[in-house]
Amino acid sequence: MTQDSHTSAIRERMRALEREIARHDELYHKYARPEVSDAEFDALFTELRALEEAHPGLASPDSPTLRVGNDLVNDLPEAEHTIPVLSLDKCYSGADIAAWIAKTARADGQALSFVLEEKLDGASIVLYYEDGILTRAVTRGNGRIGNDVTANARTIRGIPLALARPVTLAVRGEIFMRRENFARYNESAGGVYVNPRNLAAGTLRSVRSSAVAHVPLEFFAYEGFFEDSALDRHSAILAELAALGFPINPASGLYSEDASLQAWARETFPEWRVGDPAAIMQAVGDAQAARANLAYDIDGLVLKVNEIEARVRLGYTAHHPRWAIAYKFESPQAVTRLLSITVQVGRNGRITPVAELEPVAVSGSTIARATLHNEDYIRQLELAAGDMVAISRRGDVIPAVDRVIEKAETAEGALVWTMPPACPCCGTGLVQRGAHHFCLNRDCCDRLVGRLAHFAGKAGLDIEGLGGKTLLLAFEKDLVRHPSDIFTADWTRLVDMDGFGEKRVANIMQGIEAARSRPFAQVLSALGFESIGPSLAELLINAGFTSAAKIIERAREGDWEVFAATEGLAEQSARQIVHEFSDPRNLAELEALARAGLCMENAENKGAEYAQSMQGQRWCVTGSFEHYNPRDLAMDEVKKRGGAVISGVSSKTTHLLAGTGAGSKLQKAKDLGVRIVREDEFMEML
Ligand code: IVH
Repeated sequence: MTQDSHTSAIRERMRALEREIARHDELYHKYARPEVSDAEFDALFTELRALEEAHPGLASPDSPTLRVGNDLVNDLPEAEHTIPVLSLDKCYSGADIAAWIAKTARADGQALSFVLEEKLDGASIVLYYEDGILTRAVTRGNGRIGNDVTANARTIRGIPLALARPVTLAVRGEIFMRRENFARYNESAGGVYVNPRNLAAGTLRSVRSSAVAHVPLEFFAYEGFFEDSALDRHSAILAELAALGFPINPASGLYSEDASLQAWARETFPEWRVGDPAAIMQAVGDAQAARANLAYDIDGLVLKVNEIEARVRLGYTAHHPRWAIAYKFESPQAVTRLLSITVQVGRNGRITPVAELEPVAVSGSTIARATLHNEDYIRQLELAAGDMVAISRRGDVIPAVDRVIEKAETAEGALVWTMPPACPCCGTGLVQRGAHHFCLNRDCCDRLVGRLAHFAGKAGLDIEGLGGKTLLLAFEKDLVRHPSDIFTADWTRLVDMDGFGEKRVANIMQGIEAARSRPFAQVLSALGFESIGPSLAELLINAGFTSAAKIIERAREGDWEVFAATEGLAEQSARQIVHEFSDPRNLAELEALARAGLCMENAENKGAEYAQSMQGQRWCVTGSFEHYNPRDLAMDEVKKRGGAVISGVSSKTTHLLAGTGAGSKLQKAKDLGVRIVREDEFMEML
């Protein structure tokens, strides 16, 4: 074989592999009907990559191997834009749009045509092509400088790696994700993403491009900037972009008085809405109405002057073109500056980042702080101190930071806040569990003070006069460290300290005395265990766990299933209860609280009205009963006598109470030799 024929054989093989891979890729991703196994697909891929490495000169600029990305950590270098990346002027009402059309048409004198596009709610990107090859993909950044995300952009299927012709141009467009894909992806990711936009934006900046390749992102191009071109209309530019291989949003429209232009648009973009400029307002209304049912999120519409010559004449302000306007469906609640992000350490060690905001009025009250939940949330919003942010009240109550309106420009470029490595209070290294970070030091001051404040606060014993500030002072003066100290501390030591007179201290002591007789349910939730809030405390007591001793006993046996049998109590909480009620430090604190005279048993069950005849037994109840209807009544009888009720039959089950219609559980109990008790026998036992 000659050198030439050898080379051409290799080239042919490479092209064949490319075609094969592209076909399987389409079958897999577009039609969800793969014809080959993952391993076979990988083999094709590996062969192509090996050939490319051996013969780089023969590799295609748009080879599918470029889409896979790599696992190298890109630190997202900065890149300067070579086109001005401006944003759009906004308006919030139909009247504003109508006024803009009138003004724009007037300013120009001639009859203009318009293109109406969806304002996609995703991540903005600029793609740079040289001689038809994608060379750089850059985020909008501050409009002058953005982040170079080329490796990530290459993995997004809608972005052409090589164009149909060797043109040099820049293309602006939006990276977005369909709602359906978002839901599926977010579910598999444990539901950590707030919305498709945050996921798209976060993914685009991901440092692992191989991870990006797995996220179902899509792309629509909406502006083209050719190096040299005679195209005189935006609609013609979009048609050219489509011909070059870019996806163009079919849900757009062209509005012109010119019948031949209308005819051209109908032919070129059959899915577009085409009409007279007088029809624009109708289209705007229709789009707004259809918004909820769209396959992806849009946050408004963009109306653009179509004639390039008119665009040039209309020109720009410092920030946006005068030839386009964004119509936003919802007005922002308020915009303010994010001064800093602080972190709070919760009583159980959970770290919560908090936005410290320049105070701003939102629906009637001033907001200066808002929770930012966790680091993921901040990363998705791409937040950093100095950014201008949109603030709203979620459900009209809780203040929330919705999105960045304008990134702060810093010497180091556009930054995103990251979680400090150590607890700001005690310096212990933070540990990540799921989406949250934790300080695991139980002697961390913030954790101790948080626990005290919870214990004395509204969700706890609600001790009058003992607010967070007083407790902090008492903690700093070594008066109290653990909740039980509240009952033994010498509070008179506070007298004459920052505004504490004798009377005020006497009030505190009175409040503490009154709290000694709070019911058991309140004591349970005051403990501040992760597992037990006020409603769960009630739930446990109603399920028969009527004293601390009973809970501790079950927990000591590691018996989470008896807790999980309580309706409304998830397995996770059941395991947590076992964990927290068998922890030696928690047990010591419980003992100290009991010594302080706190109520450790539910008052109604006091005095052991019932002999604990079912102590140690594990009952399962199935079928229906004549006297115990609903059958919870039978379960209550068991619990009152110290027995445990569980939902399933297992080898640990000691009794099965079987009513009429008992089915598989009865069979299983028989198989396992579990004692079977019928209703009349049960009543006798009681
Ligand atoms: S045109 C110079 N068209 O909206 C005009 N922008 O502030 C360039 N956007 O961040 C923008 N859909 O990412 C244009 N069909 C569309 C758009 C669109 C979404 C975003 C864009 C930019 C913001 C404008």
